[in-house]
Amino acid sequence: MCGIIGIAGRSTVTERLVEGLKRLEYRGYDSSGIAILDGGELKRERAEGKIKSLEAKLKDGMIDGHTGIAHTRWATHGVPNETNAHPHFFGRVGVVHNGIIENFLELRASLPDNHFRTETDTEVVAHLIDDALTRGLDSKAAFQDCLKKLRGAYAFGVIIDGVKDQIFCARAGSPLAIGIGDDEMYLGSDAMALAQLTNRLIYLEEGDWAILSPDSVDIFDKSGASVTRAETIISGGPAMAEKGNYRHFMLKEIYEQPETVGRTLANYVDEFNLTADLPEGLNFSEYDRIVIIACGTACYAAMVAKYWFEQLAGIAVDVDVASEFRYRQPVLSPKSLFIAVSQSGETADTLAALRYCKDHGVRTAALVNVMTSTMAREADIALPINAGPEIGVASTKAFTSQLTALASLALSAAKSRKDLSRDAEIRLARALIKTPRKIKEALELDAQVEQIAFELSKSRSAFYLGRGSQVPIALEGALKLKEISYIHAEGYAAGELKHGPIALIEDGTPVIVIAPYDPLFEKTISNLQEVASRGARIILITDDIGAKSAGNMASETIVVPSSDSFVAPIIMSIAIQLLAYHTAVHLGTDVDQPRNLAKSVTVE
Ligand code: F6R
Repeated sequence: MCGIIGIAGRSTVTERLVEGLKRLEYRGYDSSGIAILDGGELKRERAEGKIKSLEAKLKDGMIDGHTGIAHTRWATHGVPNETNAHPHFFGRVGVVHNGIIENFLELRASLPDNHFRTETDTEVVAHLIDDALTRGLDSKAAFQDCLKKLRGAYAFGVIIDGVKDQIFCARAGSPLAIGIGDDEMYLGSDAMALAQLTNRLIYLEEGDWAILSPDSVDIFDKSGASVTRAETIISGGPAMAEKGNYRHFMLKEIYEQPETVGRTLANYVDEFNLTADLPEGLNFSEYDRIVIIACGTACYAAMVAKYWFEQLAGIAVDVDVASEFRYRQPVLSPKSLFIAVSQSGETADTLAALRYCKDHGVRTAALVNVMTSTMAREADIALPINAGPEIGVASTKAFTSQLTALASLALSAAKSRKDLSRDAEIRLARALIKTPRKIKEALELDAQVEQIAFELSKSRSAFYLGRGSQVPIALEGALKLKEISYIHAEGYAAGELKHGPIALIEDGTPVIVIAPYDPLFEKTISNLQEVASRGARIILITDDIGAKSAGNMASETIVVPSSDSFVAPIIMSIAIQLLAYHTAVHLGTDVDQPRNLAKSVTVE
């Protein structure tokens, strides 16, 4: 989604702001822009499309100064064109904004000059501040006056003509970080934007606002009281966002999985004693129900976890998509544990679900990749997945790390609830520990999958089928394919197809069947035969025994390394990721930044 970067410094900023915008590209955007206090005077440049269009314009008539703000826009209100691109100017004020100002129409109507030049909700912020300045308020009071009027989710940065060297910023609902430099201060919607500038960050809390000058940061809370917020040192540095020799971030991230899953395991499973101990602050025996809430891919990880927790630990699990959860008035009890699953830890709906549960007295945990995220900070317990920065918009390594962490938690839950024998615990812990090696072997299928993907890329529609804990993997396979290749795809529980969707099967329709050799294998193969006999072209993803037992109905068989069925969803994920990736590459789509998508969805 939209990205913000700002610099209040003592040397020129344009080039560094553009560099920061490039680091924000991964979030997804459709226009960009930059505003500078050039000798104290407001100047800007904006462009539709990729940042290189903005760069081209900046070369024509370079604007520069020591203070500036910049933005990548993912359109919500108003089409993605140059007029609607941020920064928005009115009078003396320039603003960049992430989020949605929900009462912008009402605010527009209340202003003396309600002649607006854009279709955006953001422009109203510039009008409100300028109006307050006109009424005689100083810049700080004008900014605060504007904040009091806004309803919705926002993170924004503001510069004011004539107010040299200062950036005003605020957050409510959308994340915002302040970077500390030497004689310079920075503003960023995430650590990635600032990675090249500083590793010293202050994350603003809900309702906070601040004034940045080259040598100071003044932070205030919602009430206007001056506050101090802790500084965080970010490890990693600029290199963490490089593609290396890989053609795409997505491919790099697919290939990182033996290592990332290994890192996740190191946090949850003791490989010497073959046991999974409960993370501090978490005791599953205190709960009679787990509610897991997430969006998209993270929600599919949660759906797999439902099988694990229920089968191993005998604890009931509800899984819901975050955007539905709080609006359906869910029945919660103090004996429920809420777990938010989120790579970014910033997804607006998941965060809202977490806050809803907190407000209803439910204990909350956040399983996140970004440990400095709002969810990690607001949940009672923050659980890391340690997958490292995920840049490709389509989630891959975060998914397998979410699965790994959830599998380990289910194992520790089973142990703490005494539903598991020591022998079973050893078997399952061993299966988990072998996972990185199995993933590495699964990656050797790359060349074969690439060939299969070539055929798949000629189709306009595909189905993914699975049973049991492979149903969410079928859903994830379909999501991966559609989001990066734009081929229409649906995932189904294999037994469900004949209740309607089978009508769509015709000669040559690709059906990807995910069927490790487990107790449900034969039933899945019966479903495979139902579609194969109606002309479907079957791509079977199975293991060695599965391949030998499946008969010859499949056009293609991808044989992944055999594993304990407990961890098979993790191993199967590699095949579906590679299949989607190569299909998209054959079609020539923008794999890392697919159209219309944002990496972190920070609006409802
Ligand atoms: C798909 C994908 C999305 C995210 C979803 C939740 O490849 O990445 O479906 O999983 O937007 O994002 P997080 O995990 O950041 O809450």
